[in-house]
Amino acid sequence: MSDSVRITGLGHDFEMPVVGSVDGPAGFDISRLLATTGFTSYDDGLANTASTKSAITYIDGDAGILRYRGYPIEELAEQSTFLETAYLVIYGELPTATQLAEWEDRIRRKTMVDERMREFFRMFPRRSHPMPVLASGLMMLSTFSFDSLGESPRAIEKATERLIAKVPTLAAYGYKNSRGEAMLYPDNSLSYIENFLRMSFGYPTEAYAFHDEITRALDVLLILHADHEQNCSTSTVRLIGSSGANIYASVAGGVNALSGPLHGGANQAVVEMLAAIKDSGISVKEYVQQVKDKKTGIKLMGFGHRIYKNYDPRAAIIKQHADAVMNLKAGRRDLLEIAQELEQAALGDDYFVERKLYPNVDFYSGLIYEAMGFPKEMFTVLFAIGRLPGWIAQWRELRSNPKAKIGRPRQIYVGPAKREYVPIHERD
Ligand code: COA
Repeated sequence: MSDSVRITGLGHDFEMPVVGSVDGPAGFDISRLLATTGFTSYDDGLANTASTKSAITYIDGDAGILRYRGYPIEELAEQSTFLETAYLVIYGELPTATQLAEWEDRIRRKTMVDERMREFFRMFPRRSHPMPVLASGLMMLSTFSFDSLGESPRAIEKATERLIAKVPTLAAYGYKNSRGEAMLYPDNSLSYIENFLRMSFGYPTEAYAFHDEITRALDVLLILHADHEQNCSTSTVRLIGSSGANIYASVAGGVNALSGPLHGGANQAVVEMLAAIKDSGISVKEYVQQVKDKKTGIKLMGFGHRIYKNYDPRAAIIKQHADAVMNLKAGRRDLLEIAQELEQAALGDDYFVERKLYPNVDFYSGLIYEAMGFPKEMFTVLFAIGRLPGWIAQWRELRSNPKAKIGRPRQIYVGPAKREYVPIHERD
């Protein structure tokens, strides 16, 4: 490939150097575009814009490929644990056995939060959604973490470990508060996943019984969510971080971006959609017709993706775990059946085939979380726990680049042209 591309027209001759990639599309460097031509680029939804170079995650949406640091998601889901994957995503290499043991130990020792933070969780109304509670908890955590707000490698390391260790504790406390139940202290004899399950579902009065299938399924679900390159929440984390804001503020912004139904909130929306289909008694065929009729504005939640134009590889792995968890915990089999019927109907329908709309990660994840015992409001919180290593890794990558600039997109102004101010007594 030539190493630059020229565009000519409207009196301009502009040369754009090619920015090479290891895999996937290369880019044109348009950083001199405005200064040279007076034009800016216009890219609705940033669908064609590479906002950064990154060495963390690779997606081939047409082939349905996802890799963290070069390792295929299928192999990580099969052989790795979430904490091991988090290490890989953040530090760039799979840990040795010693590195992993040390990493697990460092995380285990940081799972507790300040006592005043436990009280803080009681201030939220019981009905509050756990996503804003988690985002608030992260900002609260930043006020207790003054020694890890700085730019030194030691401060960044401390913040990294604190976030990975404490976010499950914050998530479980938000959940416990919503139920009016006692918030448990972490138990450092347990694994990362076991600790979170016990803090979510356990009681101080009795031992918590673990099911290996559930512990492993949650481990795998978190691995599948660990990073997904420059999606909406990750771009938010980077944009906030680009101003020099600390990692806690940046990650809290990521949680808020994730909460929307077009992003992480889709896993909750899928289960709500399946329950609504069940309750209304309409057939799957009728529902698909409603989705296809653009006037209804109804979308098939958990379907479609900006990048995947093929089966989302994460959805395929999740599907394998759905049965194991459902058999154990008798989850909503009725909703799983509707989901499977919907998938079959959509995959055989021209509307979805032509637009390359396939199930995404959220299509089945909510059903498994539900079978594990989580209420639907917690589904996106689980996504956030999973995505945390990615947000941290992307923030660290951004901040380790001395040439990184503040993120500041341009616009194409379409409001009123200059006009005279009208004094209030002269306005009709
Ligand atoms: N149900 C029905 N139609 C859908 C659809 C869905 N879930 N997702 C996309 N489409 C249609 C669009 O209406 C559009 O049709 P058109 O070409 O006739 O106008 C076409 O497919 C392209 O979709 P578009 O909205 O341009 O894609 P996008 O890349 O901007 O959006 C999503 C991607 C994920 C936001 C979108 O697919 C969606 O809203 N999905 C449901 C929410 C969801 O599951 N989100 C989780 C993502 S992990």
